Amino acid sequence: MNKLGLLGVLFLLVCGCSKAVTDKAVVHNQWNDQPEMDRFIDSLMTEMTLEEKIGQTVLFASWWDITGPVSENDFVDDAIKGKVGAVFNALTADFIYRMQKEVVEKSRLGIPLLFGYDVIHGYRTTFPTPFAMSASWDLDQIEKSCRVAAVEAAADGLNWTFAPMVDIARDPRWGRIAEGAGEDAYLGSLIAAAQVRGFQGTDLSDEATVLACAKHFAAYGAAQAGRDYHTVDISERVLRDVYLPPFKAACDAGVATYMTAFNELDGTPCSAHEHLLNDILKEQWGFDGFVVTDYTSIKEMVNHGSVANEKEAGEASMNAGVDMDMQSGIFMNHLKQSVEEGKVKEATVNEACRRVLEMKYRLGLFEDPYRYCRPDEDKQSKIKSPEHFALAHEMARKSIVLLKNEDHLMPLNKEQLNSIALIGPMTDEQKQQLGAWHTTGQPETVTTILTAFKEKLGSKTKIYTAKGCDWEGDDRSGFAEALAAAKKAEVVVMCMGERENMGGEAASRVHIDIPLIQKELIREVHKTGKPIVLLLHNGRPLTITWENEHLPAIVECWHLGSMAGPAIADVVFGDYNPSGKLTATFPQHLGQVPVHYNMKNTGRPYNPEDHFTTRYQDCSNDPLYCFGYGLSYSSFEYSAVTLDTNTLTPDGKITASVKVNNTSNVDGEEVVQLYIRDLVGSVTRPVKELKGFQKVMIPANTAIDVNFEVRVEDLAFWRKDMSYGAEKGEFLLFIGTNSDVEQGIKFELSSDADVEPYTIR
Ligand code: NOJ
Repeated sequence: MNKLGLLGVLFLLVCGCSKAVTDKAVVHNQWNDQPEMDRFIDSLMTEMTLEEKIGQTVLFASWWDITGPVSENDFVDDAIKGKVGAVFNALTADFIYRMQKEVVEKSRLGIPLLFGYDVIHGYRTTFPTPFAMSASWDLDQIEKSCRVAAVEAAADGLNWTFAPMVDIARDPRWGRIAEGAGEDAYLGSLIAAAQVRGFQGTDLSDEATVLACAKHFAAYGAAQAGRDYHTVDISERVLRDVYLPPFKAACDAGVATYMTAFNELDGTPCSAHEHLLNDILKEQWGFDGFVVTDYTSIKEMVNHGSVANEKEAGEASMNAGVDMDMQSGIFMNHLKQSVEEGKVKEATVNEACRRVLEMKYRLGLFEDPYRYCRPDEDKQSKIKSPEHFALAHEMARKSIVLLKNEDHLMPLNKEQLNSIALIGPMTDEQKQQLGAWHTTGQPETVTTILTAFKEKLGSKTKIYTAKGCDWEGDDRSGFAEALAAAKKAEVVVMCMGERENMGGEAASRVHIDIPLIQKELIREVHKTGKPIVLLLHNGRPLTITWENEHLPAIVECWHLGSMAGPAIADVVFGDYNPSGKLTATFPQHLGQVPVHYNMKNTGRPYNPEDHFTTRYQDCSNDPLYCFGYGLSYSSFEYSAVTLDTNTLTPDGKITASVKVNNTSNVDGEEVVQLYIRDLVGSVTRPVKELKGFQKVMIPANTAIDVNFEVRVEDLAFWRKDMSYGAEKGEFLLFIGTNSDVEQGIKFELSSDADVEPYTIR
């Protein structure tokens, strides 16, 4: 089929469904119709040369944005020659439109390009970093934030985002913890599915949705010593129990693409990991989208030492199940020869090409190659709309975690406050509030803390401000001004922490403290004796042990995006009651890492009476703040847990109930958390695992009943023989305000039961 032929097929298909044009859903069904799609792609592929098929598996970056090493080739020219099928880091509808037009009009078959980009936490309206958003435990709100990102990105010509990052991260040294949903597989899975729903909606051919990409497959978060790109060596069991569930949840939610990880896993780089890609993802999970590598990761296999040269790298990668090469140019340069030499079967290339074409088809690009990028004022007007900012504001408020509030110092009473000092590098900062991987986020969209405080307090409260010091370095010249400001004020608010690029890619740290110069300033201001509220800004858990001991109030404000200032001001002055809960453990000291709530008991659990038990000589085993921790301006009391029955049968359920009493005079939201411990297993089981939660609003001075259903699926794991299921025996069930909940109630499972792997209820 030449281009005219392709247009002819399109014409017939469009005419075929013209009677349904008034009913959008029906038209979309037509375009999503599998047999119809197969017919179309079969027919197209018979016209394609081997080079053109390989071309569909090639992705190159444009020069608009740089997120890795830049290539020299002219990818538009190559795309016109049918050698490139997708482009990333190209921005603006206008630019993309022109590029698409060149390729559609000048290439032999006129196959449209895909346009990808890292739309991670917002496009122009910037939301909190994903790690921050996860602290909301609010799936609906997270889904909406991804929806907004998709709407804005799609209005600007993009049809593919490299998000969500669903890597479980248990090591705060790893900067990319900022991009994920924390340390827990269950919560991470629910969030992954919500993100996919948000980006992709229910219909990919809807112009306001984009392809999502679950990344980085797999176990990238388990990099040794938290050093980015480093080796990963974990057991198959840990891989399946901890790292894979969010990827499977994304698959079940219909994610269109996966991105391989940079790391090796058990000696094989993930971009050539047949077990991960062909066996688990495509065969066991039945994933029918396409797999793209991470940036130049095929090429990097030579450095890994798993192949001798780039050609071999390409062969290993394509044979393992990779469908698209990001930026290495290796498929483009070597794959044809590999096929000719019989190193890669042509059928394998055909399969990869088909998967890519299917996604283009599902997006509706064959129906209209310009549907995303055609200049459209109505769509453009949605970018940075007031509705989007309102959602970013709500998301930012929900992401804030109150870590300490001694003697109810907070909320500050704005009616009675005559003076306040705002000190620290984040005080009036716009860019740094955008957070890691803000990509297209614009600093000018950010309302700073200072601006928001001024608005909230009006002219009757005097605000003294001083930056005091920079994020890092040893310049103390601003200390005097900061101390003077603190001395004049009734209360001091310090805006400290990490610059945005201290988190994200290639941003591992061996000190996960507040940087030293800032710590010193905090200690100096503390000496003034003024009450201090510490507003923390960071992409990872920090070791703030000294601050926790000495300062009366600490608020975890992460990097909250465009509406950071207003959200923080709402919390500080009590116009919003914080409800966020940590999704990764904050250690007391770095030497405790890895430390997460769902560790194993060991053969010698800690016992203060017995020296030879698991412990450190110089620090307790306890974290500073545990997983699930976060305070509120309300106080919640939990009753003892009751069960409607103590015996669970494989096809039955147990209802666990608790009364949660808001004993304060303020309405508040609480994340009520359910944990389970399997006391004896064919392999050892964690001391606790999150298996449910409910975020509930509880009016002041009111008690509510919260009920959870527990079923056999909640007890399943990868058993000794690597089958998935639950084992009969005793369990402990806990319901509480965080993972440190102590009193468990016993129940038993009456018999063993097989369960569909990775079932999450
Ligand atoms: C490398 C990162 O690891 C990945 O997350 C990102 O999507 C790509 N670069 C593209 O920018």
